[in-house]
Amino acid sequence: MIDQHFVFDPVNTKPKIVVVGAGGRLGAALVREYASRDETIGFTHAQLDLGQPEALRRTLAPLPFDVLINAAALTNVDYCENHRDEAMKLNAEAPRVLAEVCGEKEARFVHVSTDYVFDGEKRTPYTEEDPVDPISVYGESKRAGEERVLAANDRALVIRVSWVFGPDRPSFVDAILRKARAEEQVAAVADKFSTPTYTPDIAALLRPLLDSAAVRGIVHLANRGACSWQEYAQWALDCCHEFGVPMKARTVAAVSLGEMTNFVARRPGYSVLATDKYEQLTGETPRPWRAAVADYVREHYGKGR
Ligand SMILES: NC(=O)c1ccc[n+]([C@@H]2O[C@H](COP(=O)([O-])OP(=O)(O)OC[C@H]3O[C@@H](n4cnc5c(N)ncnc54)[C@H](OP(=O)(O)O)[C@@H]3O)[C@@H](O)[C@H]2O)c1
Repeated sequence: MIDQHFVFDPVNTKPKIVVVGAGGRLGAALVREYASRDETIGFTHAQLDLGQPEALRRTLAPLPFDVLINAAALTNVDYCENHRDEAMKLNAEAPRVLAEVCGEKEARFVHVSTDYVFDGEKRTPYTEEDPVDPISVYGESKRAGEERVLAANDRALVIRVSWVFGPDRPSFVDAILRKARAEEQVAAVADKFSTPTYTPDIAALLRPLLDSAAVRGIVHLANRGACSWQEYAQWALDCCHEFGVPMKARTVAAVSLGEMTNFVARRPGYSVLATDKYEQLTGETPRPWRAAVADYVREHYGKGR
């Protein structure tokens, strides 16, 4: 089903953007952020199923658009661990089909990937040139997606993002704050590091890359800085106290990744993404993750909400 507000106007020069995965945390934010300026339509899971390649072709091939962003994926890391075929179909094969369709239409294809393509053994930020070595089925399937997309469409852009949070679907930070509101004791992993990245920031940072067709291949995109899950949670809690959001807990205790016995899949202990390439390409510097988290807490947990 296609959004009824989308009307093709051949004389309008604004880019026409399609977002696949429009019901997700990132996809919903992309649609909202771009719709004010560009003709933007989103397809939710119910409207377009990555598991049906023929439906992808049938729906997208006749549709006029300049840019297609794929924010849909099988994102449950633990579920993927026991569902390899499904993960490969949705995270690797479907993106290949999307890349092909865009190539045939000469539309720009942007595919979203992850910091989980790395094994986490490094202790300085990963660059786009660093070797990948996923340690989970999710990571493997996302890496296979990158490879297939870039092989199918040499003008495709793959953006790797990390620890995505935003208002459209709860993530780690929301789970911690929900617990901290109800209980005095909360804990988070203190030996796993990356960078929380806010969905409206991803939309804004990605914007200049949509306009420059010369940018292709892999680009890392994340807020600035790095932290553990515990530091991330503590900062979000501190922001709540600062903004007068009632919380029972004041501090976040430390647990180790090894203690997370409920995790089915392995997670990289360190997966900070270097954004130097992005900064060189655009001249823009992502803002620090603490500022982004503070904005999110103020806007979505602040008084009166
Ligand atoms: N979340 C993170 O921390 C993180 C970190 C690094 C990279 N990423 C990447 O960022 C992208 C966006 O993730 P997100 O955080 O927005 O995750 P999300 O909220 O889980 O969004 C993924 C979307 O994909 C949809 N989807 C799942 N299976 C589908 C299918 N068969 N056909 C069509 N749509 C399907 C989901 O719909 P339903 O929910 O209705 O099934 C959901 O709307 C993904 O590529 C992910 O790998 C995320």
